Amino acid sequence: MLACAFTARRTTSDKAMHTQVGIIGGGPSGLLLSQLLHLQGIHTVVLERQTRDHVLGRIRAGVLEQGFAALMRQAQVAGRMDAEGEIHQGFSIASDSVQHRIDLQGLTGGSSVVIYGQTELTRDLYAARDRLGGTVVHDAEDVQPHDLDSDRPWLSYHQGGTVHRVDCDYVVGCDGFHGVSRKSIPKDRLTEFERVYPFGWLGVLSRTRPVSPELVYARHPRGFALCSLRSQVLSRYYVQVPLTDKVDDWSDARFWDELKARLPAALAAGLVTGPSIEKSIAPLRSFVAEPMRYGRLFLAGDAAHIVPPTGAKGLNSAGADIHYLYDAFVDHYRRQDDSGLDGYSKKALARVWKAQRFSWWLTSLLHHFPDSSAFDRRLQDTELDYLFASRQAQAALAENYVGLPY
Ligand code: APR
Ligand code: PHB
Repeated sequence: MLACAFTARRTTSDKAMHTQVGIIGGGPSGLLLSQLLHLQGIHTVVLERQTRDHVLGRIRAGVLEQGFAALMRQAQVAGRMDAEGEIHQGFSIASDSVQHRIDLQGLTGGSSVVIYGQTELTRDLYAARDRLGGTVVHDAEDVQPHDLDSDRPWLSYHQGGTVHRVDCDYVVGCDGFHGVSRKSIPKDRLTEFERVYPFGWLGVLSRTRPVSPELVYARHPRGFALCSLRSQVLSRYYVQVPLTDKVDDWSDARFWDELKARLPAALAAGLVTGPSIEKSIAPLRSFVAEPMRYGRLFLAGDAAHIVPPTGAKGLNSAGADIHYLYDAFVDHYRRQDDSGLDGYSKKALARVWKAQRFSWWLTSLLHHFPDSSAFDRRLQDTELDYLFASRQAQAALAENYVGLPY
């Protein structure tokens, strides 16, 4: 590992820093980019508005594409993932009483996915940043990017009653859908594409043995359900609910009854229920902002795009963005080659839209749409019949699920 070729130095003012890459947001995207660049001697500062505990308290998906798992190994943060994560070589789709296994490994010539909770992955990234002495500022209030269209952008933030300044070569917005970075781009320089779905997902985490060793995506006239897991003693389940539902409308008993009603009888019979240790409702949306660059600002992860969680592409799409940005910054600082930075937005968006397509397709295939017509429902039936009967159709599903090449 190269020693940091550049260390943060305080300028004359007592609250200013300089860094090569200023990163807004200390979630998976920001932490992974910071870690990867540090290993190449490129200095970063991460500004996170929440506490570390708050960030680690978020429950998010846990299916890692092959490429993401490889990125974690490249970042030297994959020890626990490789020790505790589960390799899954397939998953099932259930419709009414039929359950069909999608043989990921057989359909993709050996590829699979890793099941490892995003909370644990983020914990590993924080630990790695600590080990390397990375600069991650928590409780950074009112982070604001400045002079993004100049060659000397800078960030300001409030902390401890003082305004701090970070002078940067570049800024990367890893601050999620509700962050400040995308909103800092002039409206006439940005185009947004969005689809909001007429339902949400009610998710439950329970310390119970998972109903199935592999994930089961269930389509049912009552609505979609998903049986997932974090380990063999920690289960994660979801049911589709109307947007008007609130978490308080759902007791644990009601949730378990509804989940059982949507699963094939044989599977439901084996469901181990227990108290929920986390219960929340998430809306479903597809969103893309173009381009993913403005001057010296680059957008990555949820700051630039959102997918419905059906295909587990949120974190994995962020991983592809980070892979492209990492390569581009190394080319810039090592070889004074800016082709990666100049080509980032086009390259990232090409893969983002493929993840959008797959997530929209799988969501459309498996969910009950309240305003669907009888024709729509027959089309949905036929799409599933075709998928179950066609190895080629299953191969297309499998190659998207394990992750298209970066
Ligand atoms: N200033 C500083 N930090 C901010 C700001 C801001 N103005 N706004 C948001 N943040 C922080 C959030 O607190 C969060 O920790 O940015 C981080 C963004 O993290 P995520 O929303 O997790 O987005 P990302 O890192 O791109 O990860 C994408 O992880 O969280 C999942 O659903 C997400 O699967 C997707 C993947
Ligand atoms: C999860 O375990 O939270 C999960 C798994 C697969 C998905 C979505 C969520 O497609």
